[in-house]
Amino acid sequence: MDSEEKKNLPRRKFFINGIKAVVGFFGLSLSIPLAGFFISPVLKKNAPGWIEIADVPALTAGEPVGITYKYARKDGWEMSEIRKTAFVLKQADGNIAAFSNRCTHLGCGVTWDPAARRFKCPCHGGVFDAQGKVLEGPPPKPLAQLAVKVEANKIFINEA
Ligand code: FES
Repeated sequence: MDSEEKKNLPRRKFFINGIKAVVGFFGLSLSIPLAGFFISPVLKKNAPGWIEIADVPALTAGEPVGITYKYARKDGWEMSEIRKTAFVLKQADGNIAAFSNRCTHLGCGVTWDPAARRFKCPCHGGVFDAQGKVLEGPPPKPLAQLAVKVEANKIFINEA
């Protein structure tokens, strides 16, 4: 190594380090948005919110009506269609209540027996009254009450 090369060595090192710093800076500034792009679908909450399921005038006071509704849910990168059934009850005072049709014992679908005025679970004999309270059998708690609202005579259920 002659003296001219020795003199140029710090300058060469300086340029190489400068290039590394520029490449590192651009690499980092690109990798953060890319990582966000790939991770964000997993972190996003894709709840559909309020879903219109029925008209209020179609209900008879005191008589629960089973309504099946569906909505799309995005889970990470996967879209799926969810189907659920809720029982909607127009109460004597005109208020609307909605219950899940899932039995609180092991999740079987309950049905409304209009003659007995009871919800009945076909799996282990669970029985609930029209307000979803447990009357008989192994269910440990009442039918789950769903968030419901009425706007312009339409009933909405919140799928949060
Ligand atoms: S699942 Fe309904 S009583 Fe067991």
